[in-house]
Amino acid sequence: MFRRIEMYVININGKDYEVAHDKKLLSYLRDDLHLTAAKDGCSEGACGSCTVLVDGKKVKACVQKLSALAGKKVVTVEGIPQEEMRVYEHCFAAAGAVQCGFCIPGMIISAKSLLDINLNPTREDVKKAINGNLCRCTGYKKIEDAILMSAEFFRDNKEIPEDPKTLQMSERAKRIDAQEKVNGTGIFADDIVMPGMLFAKCVYSKYPRALINKIDVFKALEHPDCVEILLKKDVPCNKIGHIKQDWDVLLGEGDITKYVGNALAVVASNKKESLEEICALVDVDYTELTPVTSPYEALKGDAPLIHEDGNVMSRANLVRGNADEAIKKSKYVVTRKYKTSWQEHGFMEPECAVAMPEGEDGILIYTTSQSVYDVQRECAQMLQIPAEKVHARASLVGGGFGGKEDMSVQQYAALMAWYVKQPVKVKYSRQESLDYHVKRHPMEMEFTTACDENGYLTAMKGVIIADTGAYASLGGPVLHRACTHAAGPYNYQNIDIFGMSVYTNNVVSGAFRGFGVSQSCFATEMNINLLAEMIGIDPWEFRYRNAIRPGQILANGQTADPNTNMAACLEAVKDIYYANPYAGIACGFKNSGTGMGKQDIGRVLLSVESGKIHIRTSASCMGQGIGQMALTEICHVTGLDPKLFIHETADTVRTPNAGTSTASRQTVMTGEAARCAGENLKLALDAGKTLADLEGKEFYGEFSAKTDPLGAIKENPVSHISYSYGTQVIILDEQGKITKAVSAFDVGTPVNILSVEGQIEGGMVMGIGYGVTEEFRCVDGYPQSKFGTIGFMRATNSPELEVILCEPKEEDKLPYSLGAKGCGELCMIPTAPACAHAYYRLDGKFRQSLPLRDTYYKKEKD
Ligand code: FES
Ligand code: FES
Repeated sequence: MFRRIEMYVININGKDYEVAHDKKLLSYLRDDLHLTAAKDGCSEGACGSCTVLVDGKKVKACVQKLSALAGKKVVTVEGIPQEEMRVYEHCFAAAGAVQCGFCIPGMIISAKSLLDINLNPTREDVKKAINGNLCRCTGYKKIEDAILMSAEFFRDNKEIPEDPKTLQMSERAKRIDAQEKVNGTGIFADDIVMPGMLFAKCVYSKYPRALINKIDVFKALEHPDCVEILLKKDVPCNKIGHIKQDWDVLLGEGDITKYVGNALAVVASNKKESLEEICALVDVDYTELTPVTSPYEALKGDAPLIHEDGNVMSRANLVRGNADEAIKKSKYVVTRKYKTSWQEHGFMEPECAVAMPEGEDGILIYTTSQSVYDVQRECAQMLQIPAEKVHARASLVGGGFGGKEDMSVQQYAALMAWYVKQPVKVKYSRQESLDYHVKRHPMEMEFTTACDENGYLTAMKGVIIADTGAYASLGGPVLHRACTHAAGPYNYQNIDIFGMSVYTNNVVSGAFRGFGVSQSCFATEMNINLLAEMIGIDPWEFRYRNAIRPGQILANGQTADPNTNMAACLEAVKDIYYANPYAGIACGFKNSGTGMGKQDIGRVLLSVESGKIHIRTSASCMGQGIGQMALTEICHVTGLDPKLFIHETADTVRTPNAGTSTASRQTVMTGEAARCAGENLKLALDAGKTLADLEGKEFYGEFSAKTDPLGAIKENPVSHISYSYGTQVIILDEQGKITKAVSAFDVGTPVNILSVEGQIEGGMVMGIGYGVTEEFRCVDGYPQSKFGTIGFMRATNSPELEVILCEPKEEDKLPYSLGAKGCGELCMIPTAPACAHAYYRLDGKFRQSLPLRDTYYKKEKD
C-alpha cells in the first residue's frame, strides 16, 4: 500500500517551492527556509509579528497552513525589493518607530499591504492596516508616522536624504539599530540555528502546591526523538535567583511545588515538533495540596511555609519626622484602602536561549535578557563552574520591561547543553511565557494622607502588602521603591510607611517598569484628589502648591537637586487640563539608578579596530536604544561622524559589565561612562593622532554612583543620584473613551528626542493598559489569561499622544551624562491614577482598585 503524498507548489519571494508535507506557514518559513524576518510572537494569531503577504493580502503565517497555499504567492520582508525596503528603513528610523524591533517586520508587511493600493492614506487608514499587529514598545504613534512618511516618499518619489556627519544631544536622530530591525536581518535568539541543534522544554507542575511523589520518565525516554531527560538530581546547584537564591531550577520527588511554573524535568528532542509529545509521556504522581493564594493567608500563624525561612520575603520601613503627630494636628485627613493587580509585561518576543559547549569545558549562551552578566552569574552558579567558563552573549531583545531580569529558559538551555554537549534551544511558548514568567506585584495599600487648611501636605502614613508569589525575584527592591516613592513628588517631610512582601503559591511577581512606584503612586494620587476636594481647591492647584522644588526636601529625606523641574511639568499641562471637563491628572517621580547604597556602575570601552570605533558595553538594549544613547554621548563630545562607530552586542567576553538594564539607570550610568570614554578618545585625537594612528588602542570610561542605604543615619541621605519628574493628563470623551494622553516630563537633557518621545508614548499606552484595559488573572494559583484577550491596546483604540519635555535650565542640569536622566519607567507611573481621576470626573465614582472597572473598556463593577 502506498500513501499518496500531496505536493504543493508555493511561490515564496518569487521562487517556487515544492512542499510534500503540511505544516504552518510560519514554521515552514522559519524552520525549513530560514527566512526569519517573520517572527513567532505567539503562534496563536494574536500578535501579528508573523504577518506576510499572500497574493497581496496580509495573513498571519502562524495560523496559515501550507496546504491552503498551493499556487499562491507569499511575500515576506526578505522579498521586498531593495529600493522599496530602503524607503521603509529610512522612514521607520526617521520617525523613531523602531524600539525593540520585534513587531516591525510584521508592521512593514501590513504597511505594504496598505501602500500597495493606497498612497494617500489617512492616519485612520494606517491604524486599521496595522490593527492586527501588536506593539508593546511604541504606543503606535511613531509607527503610524513612519507609514504616513513612507507613503509620501513613494507617492512623491522622494530622495532618501544623506545621514548627517555629526550627532549631538537633543536631536531627532535615526537610531543606529533601526535598519536591521526594519529589514529583518537583526538576529533574535529564536532566529539562531546551529548544526546538530536540539530542542528542549520543561515539564511543569500541574498544581500550584502539591507533593511530588514520583517522576517516571521511562516512557518518555523510549520516544524515538527523545535525546535526554534531566531531573533535579542532575543539577549541580539547584538554587538560583537574581538577588536571593531561592529559585529552584528543578523540583524532584519528595518536594512540594511552589507554583505552576515549577519545572520538574527538562526534555531534549532532536525535533521541535515532538517536544510536547515527549513531555506528556513524563508521568508525575502528585498529592495535591491546598495552595496559599493571598498574602494575608500566608501571614497566618498556621499557614504552610512556602520557603523554609518563612512566608515574609522582605520588609521595608521608612520613617521620617513624626507622621502620627503631624496627622493629628492636620486640618484635613483621608484614609483609604487601595488594591492593585498583576500586570503582564507582554513583551512581543517570548523568552528564548540557545546554549552550546564552548572550548574544552565552557559553555556559550545566546540569550534575550536584561544583562548577560546576570545570565553568566546564575548559570555558573547552577553548574558550579567558574563564571569565566560561562560565555553569555546577547541577541536582540524583543522587549523586556523588567520581565527579562530573572532567568526563565537560559538555565535549562545551559543545563541540557552542558550534559549533551550539543547546541540546545529552549523557547517558551507564549502561553508558557504568560504562565511562568514574573508579573507586576499586586499590592494592597492603606494610606493616610494629611494637609493643612491651605492645602499644603503635612504627612502620610501607610502600609503596603505585596504578593511576591512563589519566589523572591526582585520583590525586595520593588517593595523598597514602592515605599521610598510613596509620598509622591511633593514637599512634606513626615512619613511613616511600612511594607511587607509575602510569598504565596501564585505566579511570581518581580520587576516591571515602574518597579513598585506605579502601585504606591496610585494610592497617593487618589488620596490627594480627595484632600483637594475636601478643601475645595482643584486638583491641579493642589499639586502645584505641593510640587517639590529645588532645595526642598523629599519625604525620603533627600534634598531636591537644582534640576528638579516638577512645577514646570504641571505648568505645561495646566491649559489642557482646565480645557477638558473629563481630564484626569496625576504626578509621579522615579529614581534614575539603583541607588540605596548599592553598587551602581556603568562601563564603556571604545576600541579602534580596522578603522572603526567599537562601542563595547554590556548594557542591554531591550528596545530603549542603548546603542544610540552611548553613540550620542560619544559623538557629542568627540564631534566624530556616527558612521565611524559600531555598537557591539553585549557579550561577557567582549563588553565590560555595565550592570543590569533596570531602575532607569543606563542613561545616567552607562551614558556618563560613554561620555568619559569619549572624552578619553578626544584627548588622543586632540593630541594630533588620527584614527589610523589609534588602531588597536582602547579608551575606557566608568561611572560609579554613590548613594546612601535605606535607613542611613543622615539628615538628608542621598537615596538616588537623581530623579525624573512628570505630570500626565488623561482625557475622556462623554462615553468614557480615552481620546488623548499628555505627558509633561522632566527627564533632563533628552539624549535623542525621538527615543525619549518613543519611550514616553509607549509608556503612556502601557500605563493605560495597566489602569484600564488589561488584566492578568491568577485564580487559586492558576494563571487564567490568554495573550489575545489580556487587553493590550491596539492601534485603533490607542489615543492621541502628546509629549512635552520640560528641561531644567542648562546650569541646573545633572552634572553627569550631559544632563540626561532616566525616562524608561516614569512614563507609566502616573497614568493609572490620572485615568482613575478622569473617570471620577466623568461619573463621580471613586475607584480604589486597578484595573479600573465600570468603564468604557471594562463594564463589570468592582
Ligand atoms: S505569531 Fe502569528 S499572530 Fe503572533
Ligand atoms: S518595537 Fe514594537 S514591540 Fe517593540
